[in-house]
Amino acid sequence: MAIMDASLSIAGLTLSPPLALAPMVGLSHSALRTLTLELGGVGLLFTEMLSVTRLPQENAIVSPFLFRSPEEHPLFYQLFVSPGQDVVPAVERLHQLGAQGIDLNLGCPAPNLRKQGAGCALTNDHEQVRHIVAMLRCATRLPLSAKIRLGTSLNEENLVDFCQMLEGEGVDLLSVHGRLHGEKFCRRPHWDWIGKVKSALKIPVLANGGIFSVEDARKCLALSGADGLMIGRGAACRPWLFAEIARDIYGVAYAPSHMNLPDIYFRFVQLLERFRPERRLGRLKQFTHYYGQNFTFGHHLASAVQTSSSVEQACDRARKFFYRSEELQV
Ligand SMILES: Cc1cc2nc3c(=O)[nH]c(=O)nc-3n(C[C@H](O)[C@H](O)[C@H](O)COP(=O)(O)O)c2cc1C
Repeated sequence: MAIMDASLSIAGLTLSPPLALAPMVGLSHSALRTLTLELGGVGLLFTEMLSVTRLPQENAIVSPFLFRSPEEHPLFYQLFVSPGQDVVPAVERLHQLGAQGIDLNLGCPAPNLRKQGAGCALTNDHEQVRHIVAMLRCATRLPLSAKIRLGTSLNEENLVDFCQMLEGEGVDLLSVHGRLHGEKFCRRPHWDWIGKVKSALKIPVLANGGIFSVEDARKCLALSGADGLMIGRGAACRPWLFAEIARDIYGVAYAPSHMNLPDIYFRFVQLLERFRPERRLGRLKQFTHYYGQNFTFGHHLASAVQTSSSVEQACDRARKFFYRSEELQV
């Protein structure tokens, strides 16, 4: 396959390469963002979703949602908004925090978000979404992106109308998770349907969903024709995946890290130390759930960490697991 264009320009910002770490609650925090940057190949970072009403009051020094180191760049902060909420105070806060972009969550099907009418629930009312995007566009000159799923059913006309409306209101980048609102992660994503969005829009489109290997990335790009990829769980399982895709698909080589699986795990633990002690263990457990998938008996690692009552105990147990394990090379 021909080497693809290794950089993508959106509203004056260059993504190089066009590979993004997806917004994920409890996972897309400073530690994982930094780890993926260190391993190379990630061109755009997202925060997990942040409440537009709570954001203005969050303390950026201690909040694990807002804590960020200077190397985490470019970083888009993802907002979830319910009908009737004012976005301006949150946008002003993001300007103060030095955001490189703002993302609107239009795809999350989580019940707590649905109850508030936010995430994918918002997309039932196109006029409401139009109003929120217009408010955001008016409040910021930063690049504005949105993240969607494919809708409630596969309906090309609805999907394209909705996405063209977002583009018309000034969205600069669209990330499309190739699943319907009700579809579980175990179903294969509809990467070809992302292609229907891509061919109807002028703005760049990132394809998202089910990318865990270079082969998945290749297939997804071929089927969707997308301008780049957004990777979520695959990045928590294999934080070096961006570097592999960058090398094999975009022809961008990164210096090999020489870190093996335990080194990468403990580097993640070290990066968690930036958070207050009480914020670390939960995030380590969540990461280990995915990272354990690199091992045949990774569920033993995940459950050993899951039942730990401190980071020290979790690390001790992880060390013992790695000692017994034969698969240590990345
Ligand atoms: C633990 C977890 C938390 C997530 N949190 C968010 C979120 O905050 N905002 C969002 O738009 N999507 C969220 N997602 C969805 C991901 O961004 C992504 O669309 C989805 O996981 C599919 O991509 P993947 O197959 O590469 O993981 C979350 C997914 C997971 C697994």
